[in-house]
Amino acid sequence: MKRRNFTAAALAAATFATALPALAQDNTFKIGLILPMTGQQASTGRQIEAAARLYMAQNGDTVAGKKIQLIVKDDTSLPDATRRLAQELVVNDKVNVLAGFGITPSALATAPIATQSKTPLVVMAAATSSITQASPYVVRTSFTLPQVSVALADWAPKNGIKKVVTLVSDYGPGLDAEKFFKERLTFNGGLVTESLRVPMRNPDFAPFLQKVRDLKPDALFVFVPSGAGAAVMKQFLERGMDKAGIKLIGTGDVTDDDQLNDMGDGALGVVTSHHYSAAHPSALNKKFVAAFEKANKGLRPNFMAVGGYDGMRVIYEALRTAKVTGKAMPSGDALLDAMKGQIFESPRGKIFIDAQTRDVVQDVYLRKVEKKDGQLFNVEFDVIKDVKDPGKTK
Ligand code: PHB
Repeated sequence: MKRRNFTAAALAAATFATALPALAQDNTFKIGLILPMTGQQASTGRQIEAAARLYMAQNGDTVAGKKIQLIVKDDTSLPDATRRLAQELVVNDKVNVLAGFGITPSALATAPIATQSKTPLVVMAAATSSITQASPYVVRTSFTLPQVSVALADWAPKNGIKKVVTLVSDYGPGLDAEKFFKERLTFNGGLVTESLRVPMRNPDFAPFLQKVRDLKPDALFVFVPSGAGAAVMKQFLERGMDKAGIKLIGTGDVTDDDQLNDMGDGALGVVTSHHYSAAHPSALNKKFVAAFEKANKGLRPNFMAVGGYDGMRVIYEALRTAKVTGKAMPSGDALLDAMKGQIFESPRGKIFIDAQTRDVVQDVYLRKVEKKDGQLFNVEFDVIKDVKDPGKTK
């Protein structure tokens, strides 16, 4: 009798002991955040990680009784690494959500893993239109290049810019920007006289800019990924292209808030279109910028940070509202459902996750670089409300 009791108790204790870590694990909601923390796209990783940590600091790390764990991995912006890290995060760490994705090739390389494992993949940075079509598990909180490019092609001909040369990074987002800017400008009676493409990795802008100088368009339209804008600006000014009467215009990636202040007064007057400016004059944005700068030694948040911050909001809200039985962890499908259709105020303005496309619908602003209190900012002067990705209707 005694002996049996002991065995039963030992068994119960053993079961309890093995059940404990399992229970603890079951209660942890894991977000695998894959970002370029080193290499050419490192500023994107730094901005998004800082924003994700700020969101957690402001909103706590417990949601619907689950403990949130952020697992940050550096993919050095190499798509093979992104895919391998995603695989490990899904199989070994059993993450509930994959997030981040600094560049389009990284997001595209990982999309099949999201589909196979039924894991929501929240794209916080990459911005080629087609990414959301690569997997039904992709949800995007950044933007698309078609979305921001057409606004500038509407503005330009009304402002004396008829002949334009385009210069883009030669991969997904650049090709989207080139195509949608050109189509819309042509529709508006303008003309793209030449379309130039620079390599995505280690670009040398000099020979391309020389060519633009010789072509003498009214304006040069530029898309380069976040982090490369300062180099374009420097070489544009060094060649005296502004003095030769060529205007620099582009998507807001060029006058990136991460670099803008270091570009110098030569950047004054540059007009871009984009979905976020650190100077966006809403109360929520002022609070966001102040908190971000305070937590990051004065670093100014850029549009990448906002994509990360809002991505965390989408994930938190999905966990809060996903349909589950009892205390179970929501499935990937339940999380995905709860991400679709979210509508909320972001530091950039009101945004909406379109339930059909899983892409972000948002206001797009026209902005001009101006000096305020001794600092350079993208100051918004016009807005196009509730812009859906025009790439989706093609
Ligand atoms: C992209 O690779 O999709 C990408 C990267 C940086 C940007 C925009 C798009 O600023």
